[in-house]
Amino acid sequence: MKKIIIANWKMQLSVMDSLKLIKNYKLLARSTSNKLRDFNVVVCPDFLSLDMAVKSFKNLNLKIGAQNCASVNCGPWTGEISPLNLKKIGITHVILGHSERRQKLQEGASLINEKIKAALDNKLIPIVCVGENLAQRKSGRVKKVLLEQLQLALYNIRLKKASDLIIAYEPIWAIGSGKIPTMSEIQEVHEFVQLQTAKLVGQSLPVIYGGSVNKSNAHNIMLNKNVAGLLVGGFSLQASSFFGLIKK
Ligand code: PGA
Repeated sequence: MKKIIIANWKMQLSVMDSLKLIKNYKLLARSTSNKLRDFNVVVCPDFLSLDMAVKSFKNLNLKIGAQNCASVNCGPWTGEISPLNLKKIGITHVILGHSERRQKLQEGASLINEKIKAALDNKLIPIVCVGENLAQRKSGRVKKVLLEQLQLALYNIRLKKASDLIIAYEPIWAIGSGKIPTMSEIQEVHEFVQLQTAKLVGQSLPVIYGGSVNKSNAHNIMLNKNVAGLLVGGFSLQASSFFGLIKK
């Protein structure tokens, strides 16, 4: 199976800088098109740059994802972004339940579940983030926390096939910190998460890893058979760094 590599640009760039980065991604996507074919690469810029990314990446092996979407398609929802409209402009994926949204915007589990359903209804592939914080890790509650997040996120979710939804395991303490779990911890957690998804939705879902991914750890993480790919934040903000990950 092709490894999934997702770039999450978050809200880190000005519009001008996003445009420059899109241009650099385009150049490198062209020059690495042979390697790129072996991966499933999804780029998630901010909303203001989505349309430009769709136009620039046309005919390249790069898909485009949003970083959030509304739980409904249309209506009086000031400030929200419709999953139907995202689909219509050419978006294929959407990151949902990122810990930054759960923590800073108090996004709750039932809203995340509704957003996942809305994304699936529009044939967008949700990238659903789960992960424990440092206190939960220190008190040995990683699996308990993940199971609870998965149960709530996947409640009443029906999937046609396993590739319709991606789980991103992102330990909160690893995001932007330069710290990552050991390889055996990643292996154990991914195996656990995969097993739980099989119980919850009847499909063993792809589980990607996110949190301080960079050049020196990406290869080792991806060697793990239970790791379906990577969700890359900071290291995706330079095209040359990100495309450096696209190698066997
Ligand atoms: P990071 O972010 O790679 O900068 O740690 C990952 C994420 O939050 O998606």
